Amino acid sequence: MKNIIEDLKWRYATKKFDSNKKVSAEDLETLLEATRLSASSYGLQPYHIFIIENKELREKLKPFSWNQSQITDASHLIVFANKQSFGEELVDEYLDNETRTRGLANEAVQGYSDFMKSKLMGLPR
Ligand SMILES: Cc1cc2nc3c(=O)[nH]c(=O)nc-3n(C[C@H](O)[C@H](O)[C@H](O)COP(=O)(O)O)c2cc1C
Repeated sequence: MKNIIEDLKWRYATKKFDSNKKVSAEDLETLLEATRLSASSYGLQPYHIFIIENKELREKLKPFSWNQSQITDASHLIVFANKQSFGEELVDEYLDNETRTRGLANEAVQGYSDFMKSKLMGLPR
């Protein structure tokens, strides 16, 4: 836990990137693993993550990001795209995975499943 505080003391939002430098495959993998382990509401992680290296595509995306240089200068552009339309399958797929990996009976998560669906299905989307 001590390391987290030390890391937070020097972290900052990078505004300028050196386009001659490239994040290593190993560091990129660490960043992706961090996103995989990060918390999200109910643990559903209702988004896709795109890693975009293609320069042409990033030039096209730049105007949608207030023409900020980071979009094209960074070696990788990581885009979080939230799922705009989803149904009960979002909860079912998540809980299928949960019961399989934790060796739980489906009945053990039925209440949680009903709860999440009742909250999520009423949201505008
Ligand atoms: C909702 C939101 C949108 C942001 N959008 C941008 C952005 O478009 N470009 C950018 O350079 N930083 C953006 N930031 C990052 C902030 O500018 C940055 O966190 C702030 O400058 C604090 O700096 P620090 O992270 O170095 O402490 C955004 C932050 C928030 C909360």
